[in-house]
Amino acid sequence: MTRIAVIPGDGIGREVTAIGREILALYRDKGLPLDLWELDLGADRYLRDGVTMPREVFQEIRNTCGAVLLGALGDPRVPGNEHARDILFGLRLGLDLYANVRPCRPLDDRLVPLKGRSAAAVDFVVFRENTEGIYVGIGGNFRQGTPDEVAINEDLNTRRGVERIIRAAFEHAVAHGRKTVHMADKSNAMRQAGGLWQRTFADVSRAYPRVTPKHVYVDALCLYLGQDPGRFEVIVTNNLFGDIVTDLAAGLQGGLGMAASASLHAQDPKRIGLFEPVHGSAPDIAGKDLANPLATVLTVGMLLSHLGHPQEEQRLERLVQRAIREEKCTRDVGGALGCRAVGDYVLGLLRAEL
Ligand code: NAD
Ligand code: IPM
Ligand code: MN
Repeated sequence: MTRIAVIPGDGIGREVTAIGREILALYRDKGLPLDLWELDLGADRYLRDGVTMPREVFQEIRNTCGAVLLGALGDPRVPGNEHARDILFGLRLGLDLYANVRPCRPLDDRLVPLKGRSAAAVDFVVFRENTEGIYVGIGGNFRQGTPDEVAINEDLNTRRGVERIIRAAFEHAVAHGRKTVHMADKSNAMRQAGGLWQRTFADVSRAYPRVTPKHVYVDALCLYLGQDPGRFEVIVTNNLFGDIVTDLAAGLQGGLGMAASASLHAQDPKRIGLFEPVHGSAPDIAGKDLANPLATVLTVGMLLSHLGHPQEEQRLERLVQRAIREEKCTRDVGGALGCRAVGDYVLGLLRAEL
């Protein structure tokens, strides 16, 4: 029996995770040994009783769960975003899920926004370092609120941390027959951290003679992703650049409503994984039944693959592809349905197949 923690979170996170949870419940009812544990964590809970991520809940997740499905966190009523940081970074950093894997593979030609490009021309995956960088929260404010205010955010990079995410990218390339790994940095401006990434990339790549290591500055990477994304197969980069580049990548596959992600401890595939769509809580469309749940369906596919059912990831991908092709989808991807109706369509197809 695998226990899965489900954290809908805030805004559209709740709407799309409802669909994800029902998909998992359907698999459970059809015989997959899953136990779903829904957690009331997010802005409402924080505003109600000040709770973000209780220590004992975190420990129970770590000790009893095989996966976490997370919707999104972020609420205009919490401008400091402290609950989101506690929950999201609490899980990513606390569970040491250093590999944030974000695939970019449009499932229909219609989803590719580049003139004259088909879906087949875009197929890459970003390995985003997920536990270090500028996200660690080291820094401070000095003379706050005065004209002399100073703000510092430190960018933490360790040899161990950089090495393991680069290794994960090469391992992925070997396992999936990819011929290149691009490492994206800003070593021309950020000499110290960039130097570490450059040296580590060169060292790690020597162990993978069949994969060609390539370097690209992250600003140029954004240019090339807009001009010719087909030249990329595997991209490895730090936490902040990975965050930015994967929103751009989402745009290449139909928008944030189509982009899935997994946060893994890649060295030990049996460890717990965290699965979340790339998008946020989208306050601009929250509560209106407008959110595209397909990124969450694809994310559930990644979760099932992690639990040893890669054929179910393929099945869910096929169902998502069909929803797009038949225009049983939300407005952001050219349909006219609401979030709930798209979810019901996918659930109906899945029920008929299982
Ligand atoms: P966002 O991803 O929530 O939204 C960006 C744009 O994409 C919006 O116009 C939104 O309507 C659209 N969009 C996003 N997901 C969509 C979907 N499934 N279907 C259709 N349209 C979709 O980013 P934002 O507006 O910059 O951030 C809103 C809040 O979410 C902030 O508090 C931010 O910190 C948080 N956030 C959380 C996560 C997470 O929990 N993993 C990720 C990103 C942003
Ligand atoms: C993401 C989000 C988060 C990040 C925010 C909410 C802190 O943008 O998962 O992509 O930057 O990692
Ligand atoms: Mn992001």
